[in-house]
Amino acid sequence: MILQLALFAFLAGCSQPAEPPKPAEPPPAAQPSAAAELIKSASGVWPALKAEAPNDKNPITNEKIELGRMLYYDTRLSKNHDISCNSCHMLDNFGVDNKPTSTGHKGQLGGRNSPTVYNAAFHTVQFWDGRAADVEEQAKGPVLNPVEMGMASGDAVVAVIKSIPGYAELFAKAFPGEADPITYDNIAKAIGAFERKLVTPSRYDQFVSGDEKAITEAEQKGLKTFMEVGCGSCHMGSTFGGTMYQKLGVVKPWETKDMGRFDVTKNEADKLMFKVPSLRNIEKTAPYLHDGSVATLPEMISLMATHQLGRELTPEQVNDIEAFLKTLTGKPADEAYIAKPTLPESGPTTPKPDPT
Ligand code: HEC
Ligand code: HEC
Repeated sequence: MILQLALFAFLAGCSQPAEPPKPAEPPPAAQPSAAAELIKSASGVWPALKAEAPNDKNPITNEKIELGRMLYYDTRLSKNHDISCNSCHMLDNFGVDNKPTSTGHKGQLGGRNSPTVYNAAFHTVQFWDGRAADVEEQAKGPVLNPVEMGMASGDAVVAVIKSIPGYAELFAKAFPGEADPITYDNIAKAIGAFERKLVTPSRYDQFVSGDEKAITEAEQKGLKTFMEVGCGSCHMGSTFGGTMYQKLGVVKPWETKDMGRFDVTKNEADKLMFKVPSLRNIEKTAPYLHDGSVATLPEMISLMATHQLGRELTPEQVNDIEAFLKTLTGKPADEAYIAKPTLPESGPTTPKPDPT
Protein backbone atom coordinates (compact mmCIF):
# COMPACT_ATOMS: atom_id res chain seq x y z
CA MET A 1 0.00 0.00 0.00
CA ILE A 2 2.70 2.43 1.03
CA LEU A 3 4.69 1.45 -2.00
CA GLN A 4 1.70 2.02 -4.23
CA LEU A 5 1.14 5.47 -2.77
CA ALA A 6 4.77 6.34 -3.22
CA LEU A 7 4.69 5.17 -6.79
CA PHE A 8 1.56 7.15 -7.43
CA ALA A 9 3.11 10.30 -5.96
CA PHE A 10 6.21 9.75 -8.05
CA LEU A 11 4.28 9.31 -11.27
CA ALA A 12 1.94 12.17 -10.47
CA GLY A 13 4.94 14.34 -9.61
CA CYS A 14 6.67 13.56 -12.89
CA SER A 15 3.73 14.19 -15.09
CA GLN A 16 3.05 17.64 -13.69
CA PRO A 17 5.75 19.90 -15.12
CA ALA A 18 5.32 19.27 -18.83
CA GLU A 19 1.77 18.20 -19.43
CA PRO A 20 1.71 16.70 -22.92
CA PRO A 21 -1.24 17.54 -25.12
CA LYS A 22 -4.04 15.12 -24.40
CA PRO A 23 -4.58 12.61 -27.16
CA ALA A 24 -8.11 12.39 -28.47
CA GLU A 25 -10.25 10.37 -26.02
CA PRO A 26 -10.42 6.79 -27.25
CA PRO A 27 -13.96 5.52 -27.62
CA PRO A 28 -15.00 3.90 -24.33
CA ALA A 29 -14.14 0.21 -24.50
CA ALA A 30 -17.34 -1.80 -24.79
CA GLN A 31 -18.09 -3.06 -21.28
CA PRO A 32 -18.48 -6.83 -21.32
CA SER A 33 -22.07 -7.64 -20.38
CA ALA A 34 -22.84 -9.34 -17.09
CA ALA A 35 -23.73 -12.47 -19.07
CA ALA A 36 -20.39 -12.40 -20.88
CA GLU A 37 -18.54 -12.13 -17.55
CA LEU A 38 -20.55 -15.06 -16.21
CA ILE A 39 -19.78 -17.14 -19.30
CA LYS A 40 -16.10 -16.41 -18.83
CA SER A 41 -15.99 -17.53 -15.22
CA ALA A 42 -18.34 -20.52 -15.65
CA SER A 43 -16.66 -21.94 -18.75
CA GLY A 44 -13.40 -22.44 -16.87
CA VAL A 45 -14.94 -24.82 -14.33
CA TRP A 46 -17.89 -26.21 -16.30
CA PRO A 47 -17.04 -26.21 -20.01
CA ALA A 48 -19.58 -27.23 -22.64
CA LEU A 49 -20.07 -30.97 -23.15
CA LYS A 50 -18.04 -32.57 -25.90
CA ALA A 51 -19.88 -34.60 -28.55
CA GLU A 52 -18.38 -37.89 -27.36
CA ALA A 53 -16.13 -39.35 -24.68
CA PRO A 54 -13.34 -41.19 -26.50
CA ASN A 55 -11.34 -44.14 -25.14
CA ASP A 56 -7.97 -45.02 -26.74
CA LYS A 57 -8.47 -48.67 -25.82
CA ASN A 58 -11.88 -48.84 -27.50
CA PRO A 59 -12.09 -46.57 -30.54
CA ILE A 60 -15.67 -45.62 -31.40
CA THR A 61 -16.80 -46.92 -34.80
CA ASN A 62 -20.25 -46.90 -36.38
CA GLU A 63 -20.22 -50.70 -36.52
CA LYS A 64 -19.55 -50.95 -32.77
CA ILE A 65 -22.22 -48.39 -32.02
CA GLU A 66 -24.80 -50.25 -34.10
CA LEU A 67 -23.99 -53.49 -32.31
CA GLY A 68 -23.77 -51.83 -28.90
CA ARG A 69 -27.20 -50.28 -29.33
CA MET A 70 -28.71 -53.71 -30.04
CA LEU A 71 -27.04 -55.31 -27.03
CA TYR A 72 -28.17 -52.40 -24.86
CA TYR A 73 -31.78 -53.19 -25.73
CA ASP A 74 -31.50 -56.99 -25.91
CA THR A 75 -33.33 -58.68 -23.01
CA ARG A 76 -31.75 -62.02 -23.98
CA LEU A 77 -28.70 -60.82 -22.08
CA SER A 78 -30.77 -61.52 -18.96
CA LYS A 79 -31.60 -64.91 -17.47
CA ASN A 80 -35.35 -64.59 -17.92
CA HIS A 81 -35.17 -62.55 -21.16
CA ASP A 82 -37.09 -59.77 -19.46
CA ILE A 83 -34.43 -57.21 -18.53
CA SER A 84 -32.06 -55.15 -20.64
CA CYS A 85 -29.83 -52.20 -19.82
CA ASN A 86 -32.74 -50.06 -20.96
CA SER A 87 -35.05 -51.47 -18.23
CA CYS A 88 -33.20 -49.52 -15.55
CA HIS A 89 -31.57 -46.87 -17.74
CA MET A 90 -34.41 -45.91 -20.07
CA LEU A 91 -32.99 -43.87 -22.91
CA ASP A 92 -36.29 -42.11 -23.60
CA ASN A 93 -36.47 -41.19 -19.91
CA PHE A 94 -33.16 -39.40 -19.32
CA GLY A 95 -31.36 -42.70 -18.75
CA VAL A 96 -33.10 -43.64 -15.48
CA ASP A 97 -36.14 -45.52 -14.15
CA ASN A 98 -37.07 -42.94 -11.48
CA LYS A 99 -37.28 -45.65 -8.80
CA PRO A 100 -35.43 -45.37 -5.47
CA THR A 101 -33.72 -48.67 -6.29
CA SER A 102 -34.29 -50.77 -9.41
CA THR A 103 -36.08 -54.07 -9.93
CA GLY A 104 -33.98 -56.80 -11.48
CA HIS A 105 -34.21 -60.56 -12.01
CA LYS A 106 -37.33 -62.08 -10.31
CA GLY A 107 -38.43 -58.64 -9.22
CA GLN A 108 -35.54 -58.37 -6.76
CA LEU A 109 -34.66 -54.90 -5.57
CA GLY A 110 -31.07 -53.73 -5.75
CA GLY A 111 -29.42 -51.74 -2.99
CA ARG A 112 -28.63 -48.61 -4.92
CA ASN A 113 -30.28 -46.05 -7.14
CA SER A 114 -29.69 -46.30 -10.91
CA PRO A 115 -27.70 -43.32 -12.09
CA THR A 116 -28.27 -42.07 -15.62
CA VAL A 117 -26.18 -43.54 -18.43
CA TYR A 118 -26.25 -40.20 -20.24
CA ASN A 119 -22.86 -38.46 -20.10
CA ALA A 120 -21.60 -41.19 -17.75
CA ALA A 121 -18.73 -42.06 -20.10
CA PHE A 122 -17.17 -38.68 -19.21
CA HIS A 123 -16.87 -39.66 -15.53
CA THR A 124 -13.40 -40.57 -14.32
CA VAL A 125 -14.82 -43.74 -12.69
CA GLN A 126 -18.12 -45.64 -12.82
CA PHE A 127 -20.66 -46.61 -10.14
CA TRP A 128 -21.45 -44.69 -6.94
CA ASP A 129 -18.34 -46.21 -5.38
CA GLY A 130 -16.10 -46.06 -8.46
CA ARG A 131 -15.54 -49.81 -8.60
CA ALA A 132 -15.31 -49.85 -12.40
CA ALA A 133 -12.79 -47.75 -14.27
CA ASP A 134 -14.82 -47.01 -17.39
CA VAL A 135 -18.08 -47.79 -19.15
CA GLU A 136 -16.58 -50.85 -20.85
CA GLU A 137 -15.64 -52.42 -17.51
CA GLN A 138 -18.92 -51.28 -15.99
CA ALA A 139 -21.04 -53.01 -18.65
CA LYS A 140 -19.82 -56.43 -17.53
CA GLY A 141 -21.29 -55.96 -14.05
CA PRO A 142 -25.10 -55.81 -14.37
CA VAL A 143 -25.35 -58.76 -16.78
CA LEU A 144 -23.85 -61.12 -14.19
CA ASN A 145 -25.35 -59.46 -11.12
CA PRO A 146 -27.84 -61.95 -9.58
CA VAL A 147 -30.27 -59.15 -8.63
CA GLU A 148 -29.99 -57.40 -12.01
CA MET A 149 -29.79 -59.46 -15.23
CA GLY A 150 -28.91 -62.70 -13.45
CA MET A 151 -26.69 -64.46 -16.02
CA ALA A 152 -24.48 -67.24 -14.62
CA SER A 153 -21.19 -66.27 -16.30
CA GLY A 154 -19.58 -64.41 -19.14
CA ASP A 155 -19.36 -67.71 -21.00
CA ALA A 156 -23.11 -68.22 -20.64
CA VAL A 157 -23.70 -64.78 -22.16
CA VAL A 158 -21.33 -65.54 -25.03
CA ALA A 159 -23.18 -68.82 -25.66
CA VAL A 160 -26.51 -66.97 -25.89
CA ILE A 161 -25.11 -64.40 -28.33
CA LYS A 162 -23.51 -67.15 -30.45
CA SER A 163 -26.88 -68.94 -30.61
CA ILE A 164 -28.49 -65.89 -32.23
CA PRO A 165 -27.39 -66.24 -35.88
CA GLY A 166 -27.65 -62.57 -36.84
CA TYR A 167 -25.05 -61.46 -34.30
CA ALA A 168 -22.12 -63.29 -35.95
CA GLU A 169 -21.88 -60.86 -38.84
CA LEU A 170 -22.42 -57.81 -36.63
CA PHE A 171 -19.54 -58.81 -34.33
CA ALA A 172 -17.31 -59.59 -37.31
CA LYS A 173 -17.93 -56.08 -38.66
CA ALA A 174 -17.49 -54.36 -35.31
CA PHE A 175 -14.26 -56.24 -34.51
CA PRO A 176 -12.63 -56.78 -37.91
CA GLY A 177 -9.64 -59.11 -38.09
CA GLU A 178 -10.51 -60.98 -34.90
CA ALA A 179 -10.73 -64.75 -35.36
CA ASP A 180 -13.40 -65.20 -32.66
CA PRO A 181 -15.02 -61.80 -32.17
CA ILE A 182 -17.94 -62.88 -29.96
CA THR A 183 -16.36 -62.55 -26.51
CA TYR A 184 -17.60 -61.12 -23.24
CA ASP A 185 -14.99 -58.34 -23.53
CA ASN A 186 -16.24 -57.39 -26.98
CA ILE A 187 -19.85 -57.36 -25.80
CA ALA A 188 -18.78 -54.81 -23.21
CA LYS A 189 -16.72 -52.86 -25.73
CA ALA A 190 -19.64 -52.56 -28.15
CA ILE A 191 -21.99 -51.38 -25.39
CA GLY A 192 -19.28 -49.01 -24.17
CA ALA A 193 -18.77 -47.50 -27.63
CA PHE A 194 -22.52 -46.88 -27.85
CA GLU A 195 -22.53 -45.22 -24.42
CA ARG A 196 -19.63 -42.96 -25.34
CA LYS A 197 -21.97 -40.93 -27.53
CA LEU A 198 -24.90 -40.84 -25.11
CA VAL A 199 -24.42 -37.13 -24.59
CA THR A 200 -27.13 -34.59 -23.81
CA PRO A 201 -26.18 -31.02 -24.70
CA SER A 202 -28.53 -28.48 -23.14
CA ARG A 203 -29.23 -24.74 -23.06
CA TYR A 204 -26.36 -24.36 -20.60
CA ASP A 205 -23.93 -25.53 -23.31
CA GLN A 206 -25.26 -22.94 -25.74
CA PHE A 207 -24.85 -20.29 -23.05
CA VAL A 208 -21.34 -21.23 -22.09
CA SER A 209 -20.41 -21.39 -25.79
CA GLY A 210 -21.29 -17.71 -26.10
CA ASP A 211 -25.05 -17.41 -26.62
CA GLU A 212 -25.86 -14.95 -23.84
CA LYS A 213 -29.59 -15.36 -24.34
CA ALA A 214 -29.63 -19.16 -24.13
CA ILE A 215 -30.46 -19.05 -20.44
CA THR A 216 -32.70 -16.45 -18.81
CA GLU A 217 -31.59 -13.80 -16.32
CA ALA A 218 -33.25 -15.74 -13.50
CA GLU A 219 -31.27 -18.84 -14.51
CA GLN A 220 -28.06 -16.81 -14.70
CA LYS A 221 -28.76 -15.57 -11.19
CA GLY A 222 -29.13 -19.22 -10.17
CA LEU A 223 -25.78 -20.07 -11.74
CA LYS A 224 -24.17 -17.26 -9.75
CA THR A 225 -25.75 -18.54 -6.55
CA PHE A 226 -24.57 -22.09 -7.38
CA MET A 227 -21.04 -20.69 -7.75
CA GLU A 228 -21.08 -18.41 -4.71
CA VAL A 229 -22.51 -21.02 -2.38
CA GLY A 230 -19.73 -23.45 -3.35
CA CYS A 231 -21.57 -26.35 -5.00
CA GLY A 232 -18.97 -26.29 -7.75
CA SER A 233 -16.12 -27.22 -5.44
CA CYS A 234 -17.35 -30.80 -5.77
CA HIS A 235 -19.68 -30.75 -8.79
CA MET A 236 -17.16 -29.68 -11.40
CA GLY A 237 -16.25 -30.37 -15.01
CA SER A 238 -18.51 -30.42 -18.05
CA THR A 239 -20.81 -32.94 -16.33
CA PHE A 240 -20.99 -31.02 -13.02
CA GLY A 241 -19.68 -34.08 -11.21
CA GLY A 242 -18.08 -37.42 -11.93
CA THR A 243 -14.54 -36.15 -11.30
CA MET A 244 -13.91 -37.05 -7.64
CA TYR A 245 -15.03 -38.86 -4.49
CA GLN A 246 -16.38 -36.90 -1.54
CA LYS A 247 -17.75 -37.82 1.81
CA LEU A 248 -21.52 -37.69 2.16
CA GLY A 249 -22.08 -35.58 5.27
CA VAL A 250 -18.64 -34.00 5.23
CA VAL A 251 -19.73 -31.02 7.37
CA LYS A 252 -22.91 -32.30 9.03
CA PRO A 253 -23.08 -36.11 9.39
CA TRP A 254 -25.48 -38.06 7.19
CA GLU A 255 -27.24 -41.23 8.32
CA THR A 256 -26.88 -44.11 5.86
CA LYS A 257 -26.01 -47.80 6.02
CA ASP A 258 -24.09 -47.78 2.76
CA MET A 259 -20.37 -47.23 3.35
CA GLY A 260 -19.70 -46.29 -0.28
CA ARG A 261 -16.12 -46.56 -1.46
CA PHE A 262 -15.03 -48.22 1.81
CA ASP A 263 -16.68 -51.46 0.66
CA VAL A 264 -14.30 -51.50 -2.32
CA THR A 265 -11.04 -50.44 -0.66
CA LYS A 266 -11.60 -51.35 3.06
CA ASN A 267 -9.70 -48.17 3.76
CA GLU A 268 -11.06 -46.30 6.84
CA ALA A 269 -10.71 -42.96 5.09
CA ASP A 270 -13.11 -44.14 2.38
CA LYS A 271 -16.09 -44.60 4.71
CA LEU A 272 -19.10 -42.76 3.28
CA MET A 273 -17.10 -41.61 0.28
CA PHE A 274 -19.18 -41.57 -2.90
CA LYS A 275 -18.46 -40.43 -6.38
CA VAL A 276 -19.76 -36.88 -6.72
CA PRO A 277 -22.60 -37.48 -9.18
CA SER A 278 -23.20 -35.49 -12.35
CA LEU A 279 -25.90 -32.82 -12.24
CA ARG A 280 -26.73 -33.11 -15.95
CA ASN A 281 -30.49 -33.84 -16.35
CA ILE A 282 -30.83 -33.72 -12.57
CA GLU A 283 -34.34 -32.23 -12.90
CA LYS A 284 -35.46 -35.52 -14.47
CA THR A 285 -33.56 -38.15 -12.50
CA ALA A 286 -35.25 -38.15 -9.08
CA PRO A 287 -35.17 -39.72 -6.58
CA TYR A 288 -31.68 -38.75 -5.49
CA LEU A 289 -28.52 -40.05 -3.82
CA HIS A 290 -27.00 -43.54 -3.88
CA ASP A 291 -30.07 -44.93 -2.11
CA GLY A 292 -32.76 -42.85 -3.78
CA SER A 293 -33.74 -41.50 -0.37
CA VAL A 294 -34.39 -37.88 -1.34
CA ALA A 295 -37.48 -37.30 -3.43
CA THR A 296 -37.33 -33.75 -4.73
CA LEU A 297 -34.73 -31.40 -6.16
CA PRO A 298 -35.38 -28.39 -3.86
CA GLU A 299 -35.04 -30.70 -0.85
CA MET A 300 -31.81 -32.12 -2.29
CA ILE A 301 -30.34 -28.66 -2.88
CA SER A 302 -30.90 -27.48 0.69
CA LEU A 303 -29.70 -30.79 2.17
CA MET A 304 -26.50 -30.51 0.14
CA ALA A 305 -25.91 -26.99 1.44
CA THR A 306 -26.46 -28.11 5.04
CA HIS A 307 -24.51 -31.37 4.99
CA GLN A 308 -21.78 -30.65 2.43
CA LEU A 309 -21.19 -26.96 2.96
CA GLY A 310 -22.51 -26.23 6.45
CA ARG A 311 -24.81 -23.47 5.35
CA GLU A 312 -28.53 -22.84 5.34
CA LEU A 313 -29.93 -21.55 2.07
CA THR A 314 -32.90 -19.20 1.90
CA PRO A 315 -35.91 -20.44 -0.07
CA GLU A 316 -34.98 -17.89 -2.72
CA GLN A 317 -31.46 -19.29 -3.07
CA VAL A 318 -32.84 -22.82 -3.39
CA ASN A 319 -35.26 -21.61 -5.99
CA ASP A 320 -32.52 -19.85 -7.97
CA ILE A 321 -30.23 -22.88 -7.93
CA GLU A 322 -33.11 -25.11 -9.00
CA ALA A 323 -33.88 -22.77 -11.91
CA PHE A 324 -30.25 -22.95 -12.98
CA LEU A 325 -30.01 -26.73 -12.65
CA LYS A 326 -32.95 -27.09 -15.03
CA THR A 327 -30.80 -25.55 -17.79
CA LEU A 328 -28.76 -28.78 -17.62
CA THR A 329 -31.68 -30.82 -18.97
CA GLY A 330 -30.86 -31.95 -22.49
CA LYS A 331 -31.39 -34.52 -25.21
CA PRO A 332 -29.06 -36.39 -27.54
CA ALA A 333 -28.37 -34.19 -30.58
CA ASP A 334 -29.72 -36.96 -32.83
CA GLU A 335 -32.77 -38.64 -31.35
CA ALA A 336 -32.53 -41.51 -33.84
CA TYR A 337 -29.36 -42.52 -31.98
CA ILE A 338 -31.37 -43.93 -29.09
CA ALA A 339 -34.25 -45.52 -31.04
CA LYS A 340 -34.74 -49.20 -30.25
CA PRO A 341 -33.30 -51.19 -33.17
CA THR A 342 -34.69 -54.39 -34.68
CA LEU A 343 -32.90 -57.23 -32.95
CA PRO A 344 -31.68 -60.39 -34.69
CA GLU A 345 -33.98 -63.37 -34.15
CA SER A 346 -33.19 -66.20 -31.77
CA GLY A 347 -31.90 -69.46 -33.30
CA PRO A 348 -32.93 -73.05 -32.57
CA THR A 349 -30.39 -73.41 -29.74
CA THR A 350 -31.01 -70.06 -28.05
CA PRO A 351 -31.79 -70.82 -24.39
CA LYS A 352 -35.38 -70.24 -23.31
CA PRO A 353 -36.26 -67.65 -20.66
CA ASP A 354 -35.40 -68.97 -17.19
CA PRO A 355 -37.52 -67.51 -14.40
CA THR A 356 -35.72 -69.40 -11.59
C1 HEC B 1 -31.70 -53.92 -12.66
C2 HEC B 1 -31.34 -52.57 -12.99
C3 HEC B 1 -30.12 -52.34 -13.84
C4 HEC B 1 -29.79 -52.92 -15.05
C5 HEC B 1 -30.53 -54.01 -15.79
C6 HEC B 1 -28.58 -52.26 -15.50
N1 HEC B 1 -28.19 -51.31 -14.60
FE1 HEC B 1 -26.69 -49.99 -14.82
N2 HEC B 1 -26.88 -49.45 -12.93
C7 HEC B 1 -27.88 -49.86 -12.07
C8 HEC B 1 -27.57 -49.45 -10.72
C9 HEC B 1 -28.41 -49.69 -9.48
C10 HEC B 1 -26.33 -48.77 -10.79
C11 HEC B 1 -25.54 -48.19 -9.63
C12 HEC B 1 -24.91 -49.34 -8.86
C13 HEC B 1 -23.78 -48.94 -7.96
O1 HEC B 1 -23.25 -47.85 -8.08
O2 HEC B 1 -23.39 -49.77 -7.12
C14 HEC B 1 -25.94 -48.77 -12.20
C15 HEC B 1 -24.83 -48.13 -12.70
C16 HEC B 1 -24.56 -48.01 -14.06
C17 HEC B 1 -23.58 -47.13 -14.64
C18 HEC B 1 -22.67 -46.17 -13.89
C19 HEC B 1 -23.10 -44.73 -14.06
C20 HEC B 1 -22.37 -43.82 -13.13
O3 HEC B 1 -22.65 -42.62 -13.17
O4 HEC B 1 -21.57 -44.27 -12.32
C21 HEC B 1 -23.60 -47.33 -16.00
C22 HEC B 1 -22.76 -46.65 -17.06
C23 HEC B 1 -24.59 -48.36 -16.24
N3 HEC B 1 -25.16 -48.72 -15.05
C24 HEC B 1 -24.85 -48.93 -17.48
C25 HEC B 1 -25.57 -50.12 -17.62
C26 HEC B 1 -25.53 -50.97 -18.79
C27 HEC B 1 -24.71 -50.70 -20.04
C28 HEC B 1 -26.38 -52.02 -18.55
C29 HEC B 1 -26.66 -53.21 -19.42
C30 HEC B 1 -25.51 -54.06 -19.71
C31 HEC B 1 -26.95 -51.79 -17.24
N4 HEC B 1 -26.40 -50.65 -16.69
C32 HEC B 1 -27.94 -52.59 -16.67
C33 HEC B 1 -29.00 -50.56 -12.44
C34 HEC B 1 -29.08 -51.34 -13.58
C1 HEC C 1 -18.26 -31.59 -0.46
C2 HEC C 1 -18.69 -31.99 -1.78
C3 HEC C 1 -20.08 -31.56 -2.25
C4 HEC C 1 -20.61 -30.29 -2.27
C5 HEC C 1 -19.97 -29.01 -1.78
C6 HEC C 1 -21.92 -30.41 -2.86
N1 HEC C 1 -22.17 -31.70 -3.21
FE1 HEC C 1 -23.84 -32.38 -4.10
N2 HEC C 1 -23.17 -34.29 -3.86
C7 HEC C 1 -21.97 -34.67 -3.34
C8 HEC C 1 -21.92 -36.11 -3.22
C9 HEC C 1 -20.73 -36.92 -2.71
C10 HEC C 1 -23.15 -36.59 -3.65
C11 HEC C 1 -23.61 -38.05 -3.70
C12 HEC C 1 -23.86 -38.56 -2.33
C13 HEC C 1 -24.59 -39.86 -2.28
O1 HEC C 1 -25.29 -40.26 -3.19
O2 HEC C 1 -24.50 -40.52 -1.26
C14 HEC C 1 -23.93 -35.41 -4.06
C15 HEC C 1 -25.22 -35.46 -4.58
C16 HEC C 1 -25.91 -34.36 -5.07
C17 HEC C 1 -27.19 -34.43 -5.74
C18 HEC C 1 -27.95 -35.69 -6.07
C19 HEC C 1 -27.48 -36.26 -7.36
C20 HEC C 1 -28.11 -37.56 -7.76
O3 HEC C 1 -28.01 -37.93 -8.93
O4 HEC C 1 -28.68 -38.25 -6.92
C21 HEC C 1 -27.55 -33.14 -6.06
C22 HEC C 1 -28.79 -32.70 -6.78
C23 HEC C 1 -26.50 -32.28 -5.58
N3 HEC C 1 -25.51 -33.05 -4.99
C24 HEC C 1 -26.50 -30.92 -5.71
C25 HEC C 1 -25.62 -30.09 -5.00
C26 HEC C 1 -25.80 -28.67 -4.86
C27 HEC C 1 -26.93 -27.84 -5.47
C28 HEC C 1 -24.78 -28.21 -4.07
C29 HEC C 1 -24.59 -26.83 -3.51
C30 HEC C 1 -25.64 -26.37 -2.64
C31 HEC C 1 -23.94 -29.38 -3.77
N4 HEC C 1 -24.50 -30.49 -4.34
C32 HEC C 1 -22.78 -29.34 -3.04
C33 HEC C 1 -20.93 -33.82 -2.99
C34 HEC C 1 -21.07 -32.44 -2.84
